[in-house]
Amino acid sequence: MPRIILILGGGIAAYKVLDIARELRREGMEVIPVMTEAARQFVTPLSLEVLCGNPVHGELFRPGQESEIGHIALARSADLILVCPATANLMSRMAHGMADDLATTLLLATEAPILLAPAMNPHMWSHPATQANLSLLEQRGVRCVGPSHGNVACGETGTGRLAESDKILAAVRSSLAKATDLAGRKVIVTAGPTVEPLDPVRFISNYSSGLQGYAIAGALAARGADVRLVSGPVSLPTPPSVRRIDVRTAEEMKAACLEQLPVDAVICVAAVSDWRPESVSDRKMKKSVDGPPTLILRENPDILATLSHIETRPALVVGFAAETDDLQNHAEQKRHRKGCNWLLANDVSKHHFGGHRNQVLFLTETGTEEWPEMDKSALAERLAEQIVAFFQKQG
Ligand code: C5P
Repeated sequence: MPRIILILGGGIAAYKVLDIARELRREGMEVIPVMTEAARQFVTPLSLEVLCGNPVHGELFRPGQESEIGHIALARSADLILVCPATANLMSRMAHGMADDLATTLLLATEAPILLAPAMNPHMWSHPATQANLSLLEQRGVRCVGPSHGNVACGETGTGRLAESDKILAAVRSSLAKATDLAGRKVIVTAGPTVEPLDPVRFISNYSSGLQGYAIAGALAARGADVRLVSGPVSLPTPPSVRRIDVRTAEEMKAACLEQLPVDAVICVAAVSDWRPESVSDRKMKKSVDGPPTLILRENPDILATLSHIETRPALVVGFAAETDDLQNHAEQKRHRKGCNWLLANDVSKHHFGGHRNQVLFLTETGTEEWPEMDKSALAERLAEQIVAFFQKQG
């Protein structure tokens, strides 16, 4: 029986959650209700307790309860945490890692997937602070259903209504099903730039932020894959349940990938520097009267091509390609040259490194699909779905 921790934030939409709780239970899930202090202003703990068939948890340190089931054990026992309604305040406290009540403590202590169903005034939803919190939470693998557009309780119209109950229920079912989609599969994801030193203080690199690779690593781990994220230097948090291996140079990235073999799939998202300085000075290079030094560059190993042709080739090899012109042709040639199964090609003259959105052509053995522009986390989800389908077909 899947165990859902249902966290109620303090918003007018809280009354709708009573029906959702009843339906979750009817579908055979165990529902453990948790209310914030503010939520108690909107529905009574007694109604929730009756509909969930379980006592309401609310206090962080309640005598008796802590020895029965401590809050850490409670957080660990969940198969999914549903935050519904997720208020602006609760999202903000989550995004900033606060643990000042039972709800936020559980959210910080859990390793279970987290699903948010936000509901708030449309201005609060569209405020840059809320959107920045949402984006931070999504980067960490939190999923979000809604909010919908329409009339809200305060009389305004806009995006901020709690998503319809059937949508929330469908998102709960799919989050639960997803959690084991790739169980038992080991996957390498490369991400970020590589950094090729010239001397102790200078290097050659590129603008890659690592966002797309990290989102993919997170999306695959959320489906139960054992993900090894081989990452160049970036300033991003490691997604939950992902094993991150930090590297700097292309040579180090290649060695780290080879060390992880055999794996079921490799997704090469890293922007690997094509070249490295032939020699690295162990002292800081000085200005000279003879003018600037001449750089002699060496070709770096192609990690994607190496993994595509290795004896222990993963069943699925996926690459990315940043192009500036004639996307389809260049990408198709690159897919063949590198020997990968799939290639996701984007036009970097439209979507620069470092942005949050992306638009790709998805090239496979059977043809090309043009995916619409979307958030990098949505693109990660879509690629993860394709990967699940690939392994399902393989049996
Ligand atoms: O050749 P290009 O750099 O456009 O190829 C991009 C794809 O190849 C990406 O998937 C990238 O991670 C991978 N790559 C690699 N090793 C290199 C160069 C690119 O794995 N040295």
